[in-house]
Amino acid sequence: MAILKIYKYPHPVLRAVGERVTAFDETLQTLVADMIETLYACTGAIGLAAQQVGQPLQVFVMDMAAASTKDQLRVYINPEIVQASRNKTMREGCLSFPEYLANVKRPQKITVKAQDQWGQWFEQEATMLEAVCIQHEMDHLNGVLMIDRIESLKTDWITRQPKPLNPELADEEAS
Ligand code: NI
Repeated sequence: MAILKIYKYPHPVLRAVGERVTAFDETLQTLVADMIETLYACTGAIGLAAQQVGQPLQVFVMDMAAASTKDQLRVYINPEIVQASRNKTMREGCLSFPEYLANVKRPQKITVKAQDQWGQWFEQEATMLEAVCIQHEMDHLNGVLMIDRIESLKTDWITRQPKPLNPELADEEAS
């Protein structure tokens, strides 16, 4: 296992649309294991997409309790939203924009379908911060960043103070 380098904006890999995963092989298992180790190395962060470690693939890892335990870990491969509620604005952070927070409007309740690292499909209902994080990570898989989702740079793009330890959404202002 290895802690991977996190790519920051404006690195072009963050704009790459991830390829669908078709081989659930050893290479994928290594990438997933390394992404999990990298996520846990970013204190308090709860999600990490493959683009952020330089691999344009439909893969992200997430753990809503990353700061404390590891038992909420999920791996999402080839994810699709199958249902979504009305939008609400929430505040987001991102490991690729360590200096900023953004006010983003997204559905607060979603149903997502994805494969795990062994290729098994699962369906999950998520609300609030968990729903937002899934959508934020799915955006990464399609080369979309939180700066694309704001309505106004003046009101929705916020400089963090002081500099945070935990940029990827794990923020007390995120709910
Ligand atoms: Ni992000």
